[in-house]
Amino acid sequence: MKPAAVPPKTYRVKSFGCQMNVYDGERMAELLGDRGIAPAPEGEDADLVILNTCHIRERAAEKVYSDIGRLVFAGKQAGKQPLIAVAGCVAQAEGEEIMKRAPAVSIVVGPQAYHRLPEMLDKAVQGKRATDTDMPAIAKFDALPQRKKRGPSAFLTVQEGCDKFCTYCVVPYTRGAEISRPFPHLVAEAQKLVEAGAKEITLLGQNVNAWSGEDDKGRRTGLAGLIHALARIDGLERIRYTTSHPNDMDDALIAAHGEVDKLMPYLHLPVQAGNDRILKAMNRQHTAESYLRIIERFRAVRPDIALSGDFIVGFPGETEAEFEDTLRIVDEVRYAACFSFKYSPRPGTPAATMEGQIAPDVMADRLQRLQARLAHHQYAFNQASVGKTCSVMIDRTGRDPGQWLGKSPWLQSVWFEGDYAIGDLVEVTLADAGPNSLRGVISAPA
Ligand code: SAH
Ligand code: SF4
Ligand code: F3S
Repeated sequence: MKPAAVPPKTYRVKSFGCQMNVYDGERMAELLGDRGIAPAPEGEDADLVILNTCHIRERAAEKVYSDIGRLVFAGKQAGKQPLIAVAGCVAQAEGEEIMKRAPAVSIVVGPQAYHRLPEMLDKAVQGKRATDTDMPAIAKFDALPQRKKRGPSAFLTVQEGCDKFCTYCVVPYTRGAEISRPFPHLVAEAQKLVEAGAKEITLLGQNVNAWSGEDDKGRRTGLAGLIHALARIDGLERIRYTTSHPNDMDDALIAAHGEVDKLMPYLHLPVQAGNDRILKAMNRQHTAESYLRIIERFRAVRPDIALSGDFIVGFPGETEAEFEDTLRIVDEVRYAACFSFKYSPRPGTPAATMEGQIAPDVMADRLQRLQARLAHHQYAFNQASVGKTCSVMIDRTGRDPGQWLGKSPWLQSVWFEGDYAIGDLVEVTLADAGPNSLRGVISAPA
């Protein structure tokens, strides 16, 4: 038992990792809001801190313990300890260890169990520590409150979990098996988000294109069917989805990119590596060639589509020549954006005990060379966009008054000047390109 605590009045949720964690963080905030607990004002200590953690790489997981240490230290200085809850994928994977190693933690709650946070909080206030890492995925969504007002761009988790078991990855263990949320629930949640001010919705899933369900007429449909239905919502202007797996791609989803105006010309399709032996050792179940064929088909229906991906360098046993195949595929695809990582051995995954673990300096060298190549293509993509006229959705204010930052259909950051507001969709002509952003000028009088 810990000493009883006063019920918290304010909270702070810190989300790490992928966008699905951001979504979960928002839903936890909504749950607390329903209980009359308010977000802590900027710069002030919160009574309840939720660390919504990521387990994907070693460094991400270690952050949890240093964050807990920092919170305890700050609490000592302020003379008042916050209630600490650890949520997310580290909670799922290492719940017991957290409870042992960090006595300051009151709650450990996994990504499929956070709808039970209010009851856990009641226990914690009584001084009892609470752990819940069950995986009743659908029950969670049914138990969550209505969506609340957010910015113009919203996330909507449609699919969770992963059955792919890439040999390096913890996600199948932390998020469980693939499940799809039912079609009517998703249409209803999207409608609520739009009523609350969203103009753009990004559909989320660890394998979002594995989503399947029954539409309003009882027909079996994949993600394309859901996208077509969401596109009929008035006031929703843009639809995106992430992350896709090459093996779950179907004809209808590819075709949707040529049919649905609201579906943005952007595809995040990780390949991880360009060499077939490495892809096999990773258990990706696709080859470099089959991946390239999919990209070709997207480009056939939507020639301007911006492509992005994820890469891992230094997978166990990767030779210099095999790494160069990764550079080659990067040159073939000419990605508009990318995420690249050094391989990080994760406890419990098959790759962690494979022979031929790569030395840190070799990994660092490969990552640096890969990133230089990716940056080159990103800059080239931006430069090739100069002269195009497109809509930009404002998501932030710029550095100077009257300056705005937003996203192009191709997810590039674009800044421009004028008399606007966050959430506005503005027609701009892309005038100058930098490596990470573009300058736009207003093409038509507002
Ligand atoms: N489900 C998605 C994303 C998974 S996690 C997909 O399959 O694409 C996001 C990215 O983290 C992965 O695409 C991969 O590039 C990277 N990643 C996953 N496990 C990793 C590990 N052990 N070491 C380094 N990078 C990793
Ligand atoms: Fe991880 Fe592979 Fe599943 Fe993506 S597809 S979440 S990389 S196991
Ligand atoms: Fe991290 Fe879990 Fe997402 S491990 S990347 S937060 S699914």
